Amino acid sequence: MLEEIANIARNCQRCVVLTGAGISAESGVPTFRGKDGLWGKFKPEELATMDAFLANPKVVWEWYNWRRQIIGEVKPNPGHYALCELEEMFTNFTLVTQNVDGLHRVAGSRNILELHGNINLNKCVECSQKYPDDLEINPDDIPGCPNCGGQIRPDVVWFGEMLDATIISQAFDKSAKADLFFSIGTSTLVHPAASLPLEAKRSGATLVEINIEATPLTTLADFHIAELSGVFLPNLLERIKSISA
Ligand code: OAD
Repeated sequence: MLEEIANIARNCQRCVVLTGAGISAESGVPTFRGKDGLWGKFKPEELATMDAFLANPKVVWEWYNWRRQIIGEVKPNPGHYALCELEEMFTNFTLVTQNVDGLHRVAGSRNILELHGNINLNKCVECSQKYPDDLEINPDDIPGCPNCGGQIRPDVVWFGEMLDATIISQAFDKSAKADLFFSIGTSTLVHPAASLPLEAKRSGATLVEINIEATPLTTLADFHIAELSGVFLPNLLERIKSISA
């Protein structure tokens, strides 16, 4: 399958990659679902919704500070780095990520659409004014927005919230025009992100799924690679390079 996908990639111009928590798993960032997933230990409705924040902002901030600490200590893995190099091989390349960890940026990817925000940034719960990433939040003394006095929250998308309209519309547009689409390390259970590979497939793209487990996308995908993304992606990159050499 490696050979076949590398040959297809060589002949494609427009590539979209969708990543989820699985691509960062080998860096040491916990995924949400499955064995050891965060949603097996914590309740999303108590931590990742506006209602939860309004009811108990201290608990929500403690949880986000804990995740920030984990993310602050990890580094990109070979999967992230392979995607940076893959970006240079296509006329048009878009990396759409559901991850809030910022590791694609740290690795050096350039054309990134962060669908669910960035855990290191803050914004006001009332007026949505953005605040910089070096603003540390003490859960016992959450600062008020200088603009309007509203509480400061992490700049991530919570359950029940709309995604940034411009970002999601760009993601759909690129997916519809893609001739090659990779879905990597995502359970494809959360929409609208999970609709992007369907859009690409409907529009004629070759769909490649890289996931150690089967997902709702697996039967639709042209290829399902049940390998660690940090192992398969560097191999694929080398194979593509050797074809073009
Ligand atoms: P999930 O935790 O739902 O899924 C992670 C997927 O990665 C699973 O299907 C695993 O099988 C796969 N996986 C794990 N390690 C892997 C590896 N090394 N290589 C390849 N695959 C691997 O995470 P997401 O799909 O990203 O949203 O979750 C989507 C959204 O749900 C998240 O952005 C978050 C969450 O609740 C919000 O917070 C709004």
